[in-house]
Amino acid sequence: QVWNPSGKYRVISTKPMPGTRWIRLLTDQDCRVEICTEKKTILSVEDILALLGDKCDGVIGQLTEDWGEVLFSALRRAGGTAFSNMAVGYNNVDVNAAAKYGVAVGNTPGVLTETTAELAASLSLAASRRIVEADQFMRAGLYDGWLPHLFVGNLLKGQTVGVIGAGRIGSAYARMMIEGFKMNLIYYDLYQATRLEKFVTAYGQFLKASGEQPVTWKRAATMEDVLREADVISLHPVLDKTTYHLINKDRLSIMKKDAILVNCSRGPVIDEAALVEHLKVNPMFRVGLDVFEDEPHMKPGLAEMKNAIVVPHIASASKWTREGMATLAALNVLGKIKGYPVWSDPNR
Ligand code: DGY
Repeated sequence: QVWNPSGKYRVISTKPMPGTRWIRLLTDQDCRVEICTEKKTILSVEDILALLGDKCDGVIGQLTEDWGEVLFSALRRAGGTAFSNMAVGYNNVDVNAAAKYGVAVGNTPGVLTETTAELAASLSLAASRRIVEADQFMRAGLYDGWLPHLFVGNLLKGQTVGVIGAGRIGSAYARMMIEGFKMNLIYYDLYQATRLEKFVTAYGQFLKASGEQPVTWKRAATMEDVLREADVISLHPVLDKTTYHLINKDRLSIMKKDAILVNCSRGPVIDEAALVEHLKVNPMFRVGLDVFEDEPHMKPGLAEMKNAIVVPHIASASKWTREGMATLAALNVLGKIKGYPVWSDPNR
């Protein structure tokens, strides 16, 4: 699909993206926009090499693609200097290789913070109240009347929410769980989440003044403290070699037997095979997963686990957010091509 065929700058989007604002932004600034409409979901390096051809000024790519040495050198040979991932995470992008070939890299932070936090909150609620299991039970025609012990779950109020990685998304999630469900907070991050701490303190004072039990917060000295103490734990670290298999067999074993673990960050942060074993022997332990170690595949056994809720990497999938991500990605590429500031450049 080609927009503004006579445009001076050739910009490729490796996937159709929501909305039209991003296309207009580029075509209004003399770009010819080419959108790859290839049916297969994940494009290989070879597929993308074929798209680049011998003239390409900039590319908007996706988190499923492997942007490394081969693609950045090819983009540079085609005269390109701009690349944006349509994602906040850029573990699929070798930023050093991009820098080596003089290609600016952008990502799309900010617009997906609340949407992603809302999915983490949805998974936390769905897991604590066993909503998916209960839905399947109804559809299977198994409901034959109210029972005192049918699908009994946990009350979040007064329990402790644990956040590992209290950056933009982790903090937004923590606020939702604290304000929405009056949970106490324990978090672990290399940096102090000062704004989040101020919020919990002020909210705790407000509850106290209203005659309610105040909420509390604690910055954990170690990640293990969060795993031991929290009832619901949500993972929000970036994926790099320090966070690969952050949640492994040993760390799972120190969590409460009926804890809830949510992951909307990146799959390899959890050792998924160890998680499947843990779910098998701890039926009260529940997980809500948006991401998987070998995405799009799940490790054997996970799909059969009733105590797991699995969704296909949809944390940022709200219309407003996806259109915003597309727009930011276009701005990133346009910025570099036209000499404006690149919206967000991890190499900066
Ligand atoms: C991101 O932007 O990194 C998300 O995973 C996309 O949903």
